[in-house]
Amino acid sequence: MREEIEITIREAIPSDAESLLNCLEKTALQTGFMTMGEEGSGLTIEEESHHIAEIYESNINCLIVAILGDEIIGMATVHAIDKPKIRHIGELGIVVDKEYWGFKIGTELLREVLKWSDESEVIKRVELKVQQRNERAIHLYKKYGFELEGVMQRGVKDNGEFLPVCMMGKLV
Ligand SMILES: CC(C)(COP(=O)(O)OP(=O)(O)OC[C@H]1O[C@@H](n2cnc3c(N)ncnc32)[C@H](O)[C@@H]1OP(=O)(O)O)[C@@H](O)C(=O)NCCC(=O)NCCS
Repeated sequence: MREEIEITIREAIPSDAESLLNCLEKTALQTGFMTMGEEGSGLTIEEESHHIAEIYESNINCLIVAILGDEIIGMATVHAIDKPKIRHIGELGIVVDKEYWGFKIGTELLREVLKWSDESEVIKRVELKVQQRNERAIHLYKKYGFELEGVMQRGVKDNGEFLPVCMMGKLV
């Protein structure tokens, strides 16, 4: 059995920028499941801080973080494009620092972004892309009502290998 850890889950605020970038860059290298790799985000702390402020004010974007002590160890996002025909579609992203997998942090982050989406009154569909080999994430998505809508062959290239990517969606 794993020990218990106390995590805070809340919306990100601009002062989270440095910790958030650290978490993003660390987790990008832990698995082959993230779109970002060694190239990093390319953002400065100031730019990230500005970006977080915009998300915080937005009703079609959200960024939820999981915090242990004063360190961000996971995050989940919903991002929509602000065009009338598609602003109801939020794309979901989620990552947890591998050191803390299995503590239900992914579950809590997912529940929180889905709650936010439900309450947004704009988002009516949440969609995501996930590598077919990522069984852990797919388990989580199916458990929370996402349906497989298609598989993109050669949807991603990791370590020189083309891999299939699942498209999943959920109406909210
Ligand atoms: C996907 C991810 C966010 C899950 O975070 P987590 O905190 O470990 O998740 P939880 O502890 O809340 O839940 C994990 C679930 O997966 C299940 N699981 C673990 N290994 C599994 C496997 N190999 N196959 C299927 N299910 C698995 C667990 O039993 C648990 O489900 P349960 O609650 O029904 O028992 C995390 O693994 C991660 O950050 N992965 C890398 C980034 C990523 O893949 N993001 C998604 C890209 S679309």
